[in-house]
Amino acid sequence: MDTDKAHAALDTVYGAGSTDALDAAHAAWAASYDSETASLGYLLPFLITAWVTRYVAVDEGPLLDAGCGTGAMSIELARRGADVLGIDLAPEIIRFAAEPMPHDTGAGRIEFKVGDMLSREHGAFDAVVAMDSLIHYQRGDAVLALSSLARRTRHAMVFTFAPRTPLLSLMHATGRLFPRSDRAPSIVPVRPEAIAHDIAGRPELNGWRTHRTERVSHGFYTSQMMEIVRS
Ligand SMILES: C[S@@+](CC[C@H](N)C(=O)[O-])C[C@H]1O[C@@H](n2cnc3c(N)ncnc32)[C@H](O)[C@@H]1O
Repeated sequence: MDTDKAHAALDTVYGAGSTDALDAAHAAWAASYDSETASLGYLLPFLITAWVTRYVAVDEGPLLDAGCGTGAMSIELARRGADVLGIDLAPEIIRFAAEPMPHDTGAGRIEFKVGDMLSREHGAFDAVVAMDSLIHYQRGDAVLALSSLARRTRHAMVFTFAPRTPLLSLMHATGRLFPRSDRAPSIVPVRPEAIAHDIAGRPELNGWRTHRTERVSHGFYTSQMMEIVRS
């Protein structure tokens, strides 16, 4: 049943004809988004948690869930005992993330906040995760965002982007993924080698290296995970 509802919600999101319609579709889906995407096999929060916990003792320093959306990533990290700050620009999404608090987070703690994940006011973190929050950024802007986050990150950053697969690139180029001109924001496909190259060339990311990258595909979903760590 969840699977049917999730497919219907996906159709509404993909069928939105304007930014306002897209925002409304996301807001309408937010309340049940986490359980329904989980029913579609959405594994990313678990995989990212496994990567992050190789570099940080999650029950120690604070972690930033940058662009946290409905909070699935924050909740998974907190379940491992982490102290998490989840930040998102969209107040209506943060309302859904924060509403059912307290989540079943065991020893962990989450604060959800409306704001810009790139703002320095949030302080410093042991690790930052940006799960699908950079997928609408042009590659240069995504690398700038990582450079900004790196200044406040002690150990590791794990982020995802939309891989430049032949199929995705074709759909994107022909407008079939986002067919209407007033559809925004659209997903920007990025080649892993290209973003790794840009990261290596950014002076602010001196002392960081790209460690692992992995494609995650399941059903409706494809994403490319990447981690960069302080060397
Ligand atoms: C595709 S959603 C992913 C949400 C969540 N991380 C997830 O995977 O379910 C991208 C989110 O990133 C947020 N975002 C993008 N840039 C941001 C910024 N500079 N500061 C805070 N949030 C941002 C958007 O508001 C949006 O909710």
